[in-house]
Amino acid sequence: MKTLTIPVNEILESCDKDRLDVYGYKFYEWIASKFNGGIIVEAGTLKGRSARSFSRGAPNSLIISYDKHYRPWIKIELFDNIITKIADINEIGPEWFSKVDIIYLDINHHGPEEETFLERIEPHFKGILIMDDINDPDAYPGLYKMFQEVTREKHMLPNTICAVRGTGVIPYGDWTVKIDEEGAPEQTGTWGRQRYRG
Ligand SMILES: C[S@@+](CC[C@H](N)C(=O)[O-])C[C@H]1O[C@@H](n2cnc3c(N)ncnc32)[C@H](O)[C@@H]1O
Repeated sequence: MKTLTIPVNEILESCDKDRLDVYGYKFYEWIASKFNGGIIVEAGTLKGRSARSFSRGAPNSLIISYDKHYRPWIKIELFDNIITKIADINEIGPEWFSKVDIIYLDINHHGPEEETFLERIEPHFKGILIMDDINDPDAYPGLYKMFQEVTREKHMLPNTICAVRGTGVIPYGDWTVKIDEEGAPEQTGTWGRQRYRG
């Protein structure tokens, strides 16, 4: 087995507290840096904030970012290693996902599309899946339920470094994940802010 240890305090310490470019997006930057040179698939792009975080963390990686809808205002053309595609993530792959190191799933948050996606990647994917906003039953009950029902190894990041409504981490293939909270502040009971301006 290969272990990915997530050092919560180290990630928090790397945050620029003045710019508040912290929490969830810093985690994306950190995890991308662990796979610099690999392939990252993202769904969806929207404003490109998460795509830019992956690009910053892994300047030698290829980031392929999918969105069902065209967003004319996205400003990610300056990042040489991001390719954007207009497509439904459930209509691409899934065989070639076997070559992908990180998949980041941040789509409609209702549950069924995410569930379908997990079923599609199951036979092929061997990397780390990150899911956004999986821990808010009031805002996203379907997505919350879907993540609760995942039966394979899964983790939720402490809310000091997670996305606004929780970040899930699911290892595939030979990977296992350990969350190292040594030295990290206690969770506060409030969600991490996500005022990232990247
Ligand atoms: C929460 S936003 C993504 C935010 C983005 N990651 C960021 O950091 O700015 C969700 C996006 O997923 C897109 N989307 C929804 N369902 C999708 C699907 N099945 N395939 C691809 N994109 C999808 C939506 O059009 C929307 O732009």
